[in-house]
Amino acid sequence: MSIAFPKLTPEEAAAMVSNGDIIGFSGFTLAGAPKAVPAAIAARATAEHAAGRPFKIGVITSASTGPSLDGVLAKADAIRFRTPYQSNSDLRKKINAGEVHYFDMHLSLLPQTVRYGFLGKLKFAIVEACEVSPAGEIVLTTSVGASPTFCNVAEKVIIELNHAQTPALRGFHDIYEPNDPPSRREIPVYGVRDRIGTTVVKVDPSKIAGIIETNETEDSGNFDVPDETMIRIGHNVAEFLAGERHRSSMQKSFLPIQSGVGNIANAVLGAMGEHPDIPPFEMYSEVLQDAVFKLMQKGKLLFASTTAITASPEMSKQFYANLDFFRSRLVLRPQEISNHPEIVRRLGVISINAAIEADLFGNINSTHVLGSSMMNGIGGSGDFTRNAFISIFVCPSLQKGGKISTIVPLVSHADHSEHSVQVIITDQGVADLRGKSPQERAQLIADKCAHPDFRDALHRYAALSKNGHTPMTLSKAFAFHQHFMKTGDMRGVDLS
Ligand code: COA
Repeated sequence: MSIAFPKLTPEEAAAMVSNGDIIGFSGFTLAGAPKAVPAAIAARATAEHAAGRPFKIGVITSASTGPSLDGVLAKADAIRFRTPYQSNSDLRKKINAGEVHYFDMHLSLLPQTVRYGFLGKLKFAIVEACEVSPAGEIVLTTSVGASPTFCNVAEKVIIELNHAQTPALRGFHDIYEPNDPPSRREIPVYGVRDRIGTTVVKVDPSKIAGIIETNETEDSGNFDVPDETMIRIGHNVAEFLAGERHRSSMQKSFLPIQSGVGNIANAVLGAMGEHPDIPPFEMYSEVLQDAVFKLMQKGKLLFASTTAITASPEMSKQFYANLDFFRSRLVLRPQEISNHPEIVRRLGVISINAAIEADLFGNINSTHVLGSSMMNGIGGSGDFTRNAFISIFVCPSLQKGGKISTIVPLVSHADHSEHSVQVIITDQGVADLRGKSPQERAQLIADKCAHPDFRDALHRYAALSKNGHTPMTLSKAFAFHQHFMKTGDMRGVDLS
């Protein structure tokens, strides 16, 4: 099909961008992110800075992106503000140095926040596509994220038509945007497999400023082979979930699973796949990574709803070689729908996310090291946790070679409160917090989740408090962190 829109070079597209513009970029993890135009914008910023002129843009994406978007723009000092999630090391450095204003948002809320105009007017949506029709129908690639909203609200749309992606991806997507209040109705997803929208993003063709043809992939790297700790965490989660099958809601069919990103999540899904008492199940999640495709191939995963596909190079090859197999087994939705609290609660999703640290009361820190350094962001973990049928957090009991206990008296930053967190699982065991008071929680978490090196200290902390409902002693609540900051090791913390 001939393309009716102006063909641009990345440099011509970047030349349209002005200092101060706010841009919505596609991309949820490396999946579906534009690559050529961000690099050209970064080069433009570098040239403008060299000429003594300011040049920074507001960067809104669906979630994290890789070196060719967040990385290049951060290195070129081209980012004025950034939201809703990131995980690129160059950008993280700038954020923690106070050079980029980053605000961390629940991913389900990002699209409506953009539509409401709370973040300012979007000048451009820059999105990766595998097909564009003259009528303005855009077929996205391996993620949907917030792209439909960016295309809907931006003044102009710039498309990277990536020939490294096959147009055969048409049909995987289910594009749907809810009305805004006061006209919002229920979102009619009643089962993981329900489709409620269109396969393309439709935009007014007059808004399309141009198309850049590319042929680029971005290497997502391979997952680590799970180590002993990850295997134990995976085993503990699988055992716990197998034991939950007596619950009435889970007897007929297992409830849908949401699983976070990273190596631990991969190990957890792998262990679930091998557990004889866990029947074939479905996923209602935001990211699908390697373990998911393996489970589908084995017949253990029946269907998956997601907003992005993040596979290793080897798994991507298998995905593209077997598109028809996967087409009938997964749907790619906007993040507003994949993570929507209404649907998560309706479907009874079991959420499994990773923590940086957990405290004796069940509060979770997913984002900050020692209270002040941003790691990545909350991502979709809050969307799922607050509304899950059962909300689970996982982490190794130790970090940094045993110098850090992930179980602490009080989290140094709170992302998920004790009111939303039901189960904490580490390599040591499972603390099932449902129906437990703060006193009981503290004992359970110290006994079941903490590493033996820190168990006594945690019990000593809980015993310091003689009065009140919650065993909290403010003067010692951060003793573990303070001891680490002083000595580089939490071991030997003084709780006298
Ligand atoms: N203190 C200091 N550093 C810590 C730490 C702690 N308590 N806990 C973790 N870290 C460090 C690790 O050492 C590691 O550092 P490195 O990269 O220098 O090796 C890094 O944080 C990542 O931890 P890791 O154990 O490898 O786990 P992970 O890759 O699974 O990441 C989170 C864990 C919590 C950072 C990650 O899951 C996250 O960003 N979660 C928030 C978003 C989310 O939950 N999304 C879910 C919906 S998809």
